[in-house]
Amino acid sequence: MKPRRLVSVRRLATTADPAANPNRVHGGLKDQDRIFQNLYGNYGHDLKSAQKMGDWYKTKEILLKGDKWIIDEMKKSGLRGRGGAGFPSGLKWSFMNPPGWEKNPGPRYLVVNADEGEPGTCKDREIIRKDPHKLVEGCLLAGRAMNASAAYIYIRGEFYNEATILQNAINEAYKAGLLGKNACGSGYDFDIYIHRGMGAYICGEETALIESIEGKAGKPRLKPPFPAGVGLFGRPTTVANVETVSVAPTILRRGGEWFDALGRERNSGTKLFCISGHVNEPCTVEEEMSIPLKELLEKHCGGIKGGWDNLLGVVPGGSSVPIMPAETCNDILMDYDALRDVGSGLGTAAVIVMNKQTDVIRAIQRFSHFYKHESCGQCTPCREGTTWLQRMMDRFQTGQASEREIDMIYELTKEIEGHTICALGDAAAWPVQGLIKSFKPVMIERINQFQKAHENQGKIGYGGWVSDGKVKDGVVVDNPIPHGH
Ligand SMILES: Cc1cc2nc3c(=O)[nH]c(=O)nc-3n(C[C@H](O)[C@H](O)[C@H](O)COP(=O)(O)O)c2cc1C
Ligand code: SF4
Repeated sequence: MKPRRLVSVRRLATTADPAANPNRVHGGLKDQDRIFQNLYGNYGHDLKSAQKMGDWYKTKEILLKGDKWIIDEMKKSGLRGRGGAGFPSGLKWSFMNPPGWEKNPGPRYLVVNADEGEPGTCKDREIIRKDPHKLVEGCLLAGRAMNASAAYIYIRGEFYNEATILQNAINEAYKAGLLGKNACGSGYDFDIYIHRGMGAYICGEETALIESIEGKAGKPRLKPPFPAGVGLFGRPTTVANVETVSVAPTILRRGGEWFDALGRERNSGTKLFCISGHVNEPCTVEEEMSIPLKELLEKHCGGIKGGWDNLLGVVPGGSSVPIMPAETCNDILMDYDALRDVGSGLGTAAVIVMNKQTDVIRAIQRFSHFYKHESCGQCTPCREGTTWLQRMMDRFQTGQASEREIDMIYELTKEIEGHTICALGDAAAWPVQGLIKSFKPVMIERINQFQKAHENQGKIGYGGWVSDGKVKDGVVVDNPIPHGH
């Protein structure tokens, strides 16, 4: 016999029990399972409108259930962090409460990551613009789970309008007694502060973000110590993504099992997908996790420009993850495990679509420029490696390279990957690795074309040099290498 609780939760959910139906096709999220009901701004973003949509309902009761109950429910939900790495959120939040944590008196912090710098990603800003109270209530409940005294929301500086909307929502919540001393009448004191960043991608990395709030340059810290031990202002801290925090109130109201019943095992819940590039209608949409990519693009984005057969490839999780070629896209599911199994990743679920009119080498070269520009420069493999990647990708774009340099740039990515303080180094390496894995013939063809067009200059060597290159006044002349890159 099933436990009573599960039965009552399943009455709320519209999904079938995955254990009873392992072959269930995911997707087609029903309205009643949608968390972000105001994603398209059909209603107001003020407190009254939010309450009509169910926000702040029984928040006091949830707070009174205590930290252990909230963390257990988050663990049951199977929620994995929506900031990119996909670490289980309930477990991560529990690191704030090791045995004896009470003996370390003083402030403790939840830090919300609203930096949203990953190219292609546009979901956190939508939550803040249209559903800010989901984030504000989420801060209070996640803060309670971690026994935090305050939350800092670190928001990208360019999000001026979003920061204003968020501040208004926080002000409304204070005025209504939902935040501050005795929040919601629960006896728990909790404050929320907004900190505006300056638009550096690296400040989205959790320890760089902490440094930035402290007023220092945004350079990642070495770990350990992890933020849950020594974080903001030296105090226990957990950094969590906007979407992660914003889904928590609905999970706690409807129960962890409801969320867990959506998506495949270990890939639970609903997810905001941001789809850009060569689709007819780019959008941000909430869907069930594990939805097939093809359904996501055809149902919500009006399909690929030029039709499905005109698809070249898809970057499924923001610029940091490797591109998948069209043949992989035909039946791939959009979740952490499926995408990892094909050598890519769900990342932030920013789906960048490229059709056959795309110069894929140029696209990845542009990513390489981005990572070189955003490297904080602390680690040699990242600082020097991203510079080399950019320079080599400049040449691969025009074809001014020798074929063996494809192996060389691959080796270079391997020297960067896993050898740096933070994951920006990996993020710079993976797109280039993906290009080589899936589009090596295109790179070779580009090299051959260049060689043919410059036959009169002999064979193109390593570094793009030609055999009769001349140096005049310290400058190489008669060489087709593009200067000023
Ligand atoms: C270079 C870099 C940039 C990042 N940028 C963001 C970001 O803009 N937003 C975000 O939520 N996480 C970002 N992250 C991931 C954070 O370090 C952290 O893992 C995340 O905020 C944790 O939240 P979660 O547990 O809810 O996923 C970035 C990581 C790296 C290495
Ligand atoms: S990997 Fe790059 S961005 Fe990260 S700390 Fe090192 S130099 Fe800075």
